[in-house]
Amino acid sequence: MRVFQVEDAWSMENVRINTRPEPEPRSGQVRLRMKASALNYRDLLVPLRGYGSRMKALPLIMLSDGLGIVESVGEGVSNLSIGDRVCPLFFQSWISGEPNKKRLSLSLGCELDGTMAELMVLPEEGVALAPEHLDDMAAASLPSAAVTAWRALVTEGRVKPGDTVLVQGTGGVSLFALQFAKLLGAFVIVTSSSDEKLARVRAMGADETINYRKVPEWGKRARDIAGKDGVDHIVEVGGQATLPQSLRAVRAGGTISMIGVLSGGIMDVPLGPIVTRHVRLQGITVGSRDDFVAMAAAIARHQLHPVIDQVFAFEELHAALDRLSSGRHFGKICIAH
Ligand SMILES: NC(=O)c1ccc[n+]([C@@H]2O[C@H](COP(=O)([O-])OP(=O)(O)OC[C@H]3O[C@@H](n4cnc5c(N)ncnc54)[C@H](OP(=O)(O)O)[C@@H]3O)[C@@H](O)[C@H]2O)c1
Repeated sequence: MRVFQVEDAWSMENVRINTRPEPEPRSGQVRLRMKASALNYRDLLVPLRGYGSRMKALPLIMLSDGLGIVESVGEGVSNLSIGDRVCPLFFQSWISGEPNKKRLSLSLGCELDGTMAELMVLPEEGVALAPEHLDDMAAASLPSAAVTAWRALVTEGRVKPGDTVLVQGTGGVSLFALQFAKLLGAFVIVTSSSDEKLARVRAMGADETINYRKVPEWGKRARDIAGKDGVDHIVEVGGQATLPQSLRAVRAGGTISMIGVLSGGIMDVPLGPIVTRHVRLQGITVGSRDDFVAMAAAIARHQLHPVIDQVFAFEELHAALDRLSSGRHFGKICIAH
């Protein structure tokens, strides 16, 4: 079978197409014929060994997100049938409950081979049914970015109707966060570097927008917009450069979901206000199988559609990664197998 993998050394140049023997499902496993994959920011770091010594030894098949059709099942598989459309789950051993070291230890496209393969063999509980109304690309975009936004706002955040949510930027996680926050009845403020992208998020239902390039002190602006004491919940993807503004925007007792470090990973903020204003800094790294299943049910119930930026062919993975690193994308970048 064809695969797209980091081959014999950690570098972007060593991400190449190759072949591997076709895997067979053993007891409790299913074999998927992959139809689609989707990219996330981390896929730019993986070829550079950005996640360190915990990563699988080379060769490593790229990408964590995808959609496949169950093609054959091993002995004892009871919850899935041939023909089912499923998403491989980002964390293969986080089924339910709170995160712990073991549950966070096996992610696709990092510690384990990823979705850029014609076939994947995974444990039955390592996949979940995709929402039926979504096409292959839209379903492939769910396992990482959408589950991250769901875990931040729903499982951990418990956002309520009437809350004010601030979403940073218009990347994959952030657009799902906007969609889920609207679903929950929140008032949503979105920041972006681009007025054109801000017009697009307004069309999606964002209530207020701020261009963070034109308004560097956007934290104060967001706090004024939110009224009362400030924003209830902030989806923080910028990290080092954005956290000081998030801390100006958030209300006393509010939550900042710490999801990304796009502008740097060192915390350089006065800690006093976090303490005295009871601000909750909540780390988020995707979520569990239960999170995926609950999210997929909500997406199906509300007929929600992920935003797709562009679809590339299997052979065009490098062009897809270039599109992601350009930052010009709006929505998920997908690969048709
Ligand atoms: N995807 C996942 O499943 C996942 C899961 C856990 C954590 N994360 C982390 O979350 C972050 C975002 O991931 P992603 O996959 O959503 O990335 P992405 O699709 O590449 O989105 C990047 C977007 O973030 C915005 N951005 C960049 N720098 C910013 C800044 N200083 N302030 C505000 N916005 C900024 C930009 O939006 P504008 O173009 O609108 O300015 C940019 O388009 C990454 O650090 C990633 O490691 C991602």
